[in-house]
Amino acid sequence: MAKVLTVTNRKGGVGKSTVTITVAAGLAMMGMRVGVIDTDSQGHAAHLLNVLEANGLFDALINKRPLARCVVEVPPLHYAPDDDVGDGKIFLLPSSLMTYKIPHELSGENVFDFYELIQDFTDQFALDIIVIDTPPGMWVFDSSIYMVTDGFLYVSECERLSFDGIMKTRRQMAETSRKRKKWLGRGSEIAGILPNKMQPRTNLHRHNISALTEHFPDIIWSPVRLRIAWAESANLRESIFIYAPGGSEWHDAWDMTHRVYAWMTGRLLAEVRTEYAIKV
Ligand SMILES: Nc1ncnc2c1ncn2[C@@H]1O[C@H](COP(=O)(O)OP(=O)(O)OP(=O)(O)O)[C@@H](O)[C@H]1O
Ligand SMILES: [Mg+2]
Repeated sequence: MAKVLTVTNRKGGVGKSTVTITVAAGLAMMGMRVGVIDTDSQGHAAHLLNVLEANGLFDALINKRPLARCVVEVPPLHYAPDDDVGDGKIFLLPSSLMTYKIPHELSGENVFDFYELIQDFTDQFALDIIVIDTPPGMWVFDSSIYMVTDGFLYVSECERLSFDGIMKTRRQMAETSRKRKKWLGRGSEIAGILPNKMQPRTNLHRHNISALTEHFPDIIWSPVRLRIAWAESANLRESIFIYAPGGSEWHDAWDMTHRVYAWMTGRLLAEVRTEYAIKV
């Protein structure tokens, strides 16, 4: 089964959808076959990848429509600067307002339905990784998502990155992992904590990041700077790789992509960076 990375934070607007599609685009450019599942009824993943919003997830999970009719293959020209992604691909299971209804339609005994969907998605599309975008807030569907997740990528704004907050998140995720291990024989982990919208001249941001990096050197990823290019590229429905080649955002985008690749393959980050050093 493909590795499943869930991009999460209960707070809204921290950059979950941005990170999801950026990492998917980067991995596809590295030759990976990437599945993206949007579990947010706002449908932002489809918007950012410039494809039509659709009931894909609802249709596949609840209406049991064949996956081939629910999944959208994203044209490379929507996210890769020269359209050339080699063997890499992005397959999106998009979301729409109907996604709201999933918890009401999915009864208790169907907790494994989402797990089966992930298996089918992996097999039918020969996926290397699945990246899940999640909605803000608590959701009844959360338990299904936890069940399928191998690694969580916790995206946070820098003001809110506190030691206590991270400890709490780690405790919650350890509990999830324990339950998953009991049912499936394997747990889940925090793949990374990604500080987003960092302003290097803001003391509080610098303080939070250096304090946390000292305590959790393995899981705090390089911060992504606050740059208007992210919002501008989203507005144009272009990936950051197309919108800002060679810019600092572009470097931040490659850094998060390389880290996800290192996590999914178990390889050393330094090795991945050297092997996949990307030229503009
Ligand atoms: N590093 C950044 N610098 C500047 N703007 C950013 C950055 N990262 C994300 N943004 C912008 O912040 C806004 C929110 O981002 P995004 O939609 O990815 O957040 P989200 O966590 O998915 O939100 P929601 O909780 O509503 O799903 C968008 O306009 C996006 O372009
Ligand atoms: Mg979002």
